[in-house]
Amino acid sequence: MPTIDDVKGFWEENPLWTGESKYKVASKEFFIEHDKVCIEDCQAGKFDLRAIPEEKNRDRVLDLGCGIGFWTVQLSKRGCTNITAADLTEKAIKIAKLRCEIFGIEAEFYQQNAEKMTFENNSFSHVNCQGVIHHTPDTRSCITEISRVLRKGGTANISVYYKNIFLRLWPFIGFLGVIMKKAGFRLKGRGRDSIYAEENIEEIVRLYDGSDNPIGKAYSKTEFISMLSPYFIINETYLHFFPSRTLPFKLPTFVKRFLDKYTGFMIYASLTKK
Ligand SMILES: C[S@@+](CC[C@H](N)C(=O)[O-])C[C@H]1O[C@@H](n2cnc3c(N)ncnc32)[C@H](O)[C@@H]1O
Repeated sequence: MPTIDDVKGFWEENPLWTGESKYKVASKEFFIEHDKVCIEDCQAGKFDLRAIPEEKNRDRVLDLGCGIGFWTVQLSKRGCTNITAADLTEKAIKIAKLRCEIFGIEAEFYQQNAEKMTFENNSFSHVNCQGVIHHTPDTRSCITEISRVLRKGGTANISVYYKNIFLRLWPFIGFLGVIMKKAGFRLKGRGRDSIYAEENIEEIVRLYDGSDNPIGKAYSKTEFISMLSPYFIINETYLHFFPSRTLPFKLPTFVKRFLDKYTGFMIYASLTKK
C-alpha cells in the first residue's frame, strides 16, 4: 500500500493541470484556462452553486486539498470570507497563492495532511474538499478530521471518484476501450495515453491522474454514504464530471449535461455536522 509520503511525492511533482496546459504554469492564462476546463469539463459548463455554503456558514471556510486554487478563488468570489486553503504539498500552495494574488483573493495558506490536521476543534464554519480524500491512504481519517474541525452546525461539501455506470460495466464493455484508443479518445500528458485500453477499473481510476499516481480510489454511492454517515447528516448527493475533453469530437451541450448528471465520474455530498 503506498504511503502518505508517496502521495506527497507524486503531487509535489505533478500539481493539477501542470503538464496539460499550453501556458506557463501559474501564469494568468494558465489559471484562466484551468477555470474554463474545471467548469466546462468537471461541471458541464455551469458552476454548481450547491458546493457553496449557506450564508450563515460562509464566515470561516477551509478549502482542504486546495490544489492549485480553483475552489479557493470560487469560494471567495461567491461570498465566503476568512478562507483558509490547505494542501499536503508546498508546490500546490505556492501555485494557489499566486492564483489568489493574480485575482485579488485573500486567503491564508497552510501545509496540512487531511488525515491529521493541526487545526483546532470546531474552528471552521464550512469545509470544501473536492477530489482529495480518494488520493490518500487513510480516507476515513480525513472524514473524522473534517468533522472534528467543523463547528456545531457546520457544513461540508466533499467529492470523490464515483464508480459510475461505465466503470461498473467495464468488465463487459472494456473491449471497446481498445477501439476508443485507436479512434483518438485520450487524456493528454502524465503517461495516460492508454487509459481507455486498460482492463482493470482500479487501474483506470488510478491512471486518471497520471501513470505515477500512487492512489486513486472510486466509491459506490452506498460506500460513500456509509463512510460519511457516522459524522454527518447527508443533505444531498449528486454527480458531475464527464471528461468530454478526452473525446476526439465536441458534444452538444445537452448531451454533455445529460452525461455529467447521470454518468458523472465524481460524486459530491452536501453535509451537515451531526
Ligand atoms: C486532484 S487534486 C484536487 C485539487 C483541488 N481540490 C481541486 O479540485 O482543484 C488533489 C489534491 O489533493 C492533495 N492531497 C492529496 N492527499 C492529501 C492529504 N492527505 N492532505 C491534504 N491534501 C492532499 C494533493 O496534494 C492535490 O493537490
